[in-house]
Amino acid sequence: MRTPFIAANWKMNGTRSEVAELLAGFKAGINTEGRQVAIFAPFVFLPAVQEALQGSDIAWGAQNAHKEASGAYTGEVSLGMLKEFGCQYVLAGHSERRTLFGETDYIVADKVAAALAAGVTPVLCIGETLQEREQGITGEVCRRQLGTVLDVVGVEGFRKLVVAYEPVWAIGTGKTATPEQAQETHAELRAFLAETDADMAAGLQILYGGSMKAANAAELMAQSDIDGGLVGGASLKVDEFTGICNAAAR
Ligand code: PGA
Repeated sequence: MRTPFIAANWKMNGTRSEVAELLAGFKAGINTEGRQVAIFAPFVFLPAVQEALQGSDIAWGAQNAHKEASGAYTGEVSLGMLKEFGCQYVLAGHSERRTLFGETDYIVADKVAAALAAGVTPVLCIGETLQEREQGITGEVCRRQLGTVLDVVGVEGFRKLVVAYEPVWAIGTGKTATPEQAQETHAELRAFLAETDADMAAGLQILYGGSMKAANAAELMAQSDIDGGLVGGASLKVDEFTGICNAAAR
């Protein structure tokens, strides 16, 4: 009953010509029937992404946004601006934003709330570091990250967002969580949210992220609580990302 959702997170990569090539390849190769696909591009490429994908079944969004609508926030981009370029989605709280740019659970929660208020669907990213996994506090960390947002946007907010569970130790490292490890955490997170509202938890798309590639995507997405993927490195290659999308069970 949950539609598979596969998202490309290009991070700070790409040139104009590479972006054009990727988009053409995705449009030609991805079968979107029964699947949701979205591309998270750097801000400056959003006009090109909009031009290329408008009218296709592939959606797009930004990797970050500021919570305020406008004002003296040098270097920031608002949700209203993103909407002008057709963004339906925005990432919130990616681990790189949290660790490299100081985004706390509270900052992330405010961004999620602002996105929902603007009518842009947030993809809320959560996940534990290697140290936290080794300490056995994976569940605790993820529940805290989810719980802070839940306190701010409530069950109704959670009905309108997407969660991406990305163990930090698996991001960009080539070390994918095993399907069992990922499934265990996804199930635990869904159960945690079901304590608040079973219906919301059952309908929530929870994506896996962290070194997903065409070769491991089908096995990961076959797990009952894994509803798709947030793909970094492999989304910069047409064959890899197309393979991941087309491997998503329909
Ligand atoms: P990766 O990145 O696929 O390169 O590990 C995933 C992400 O950071 O969203």
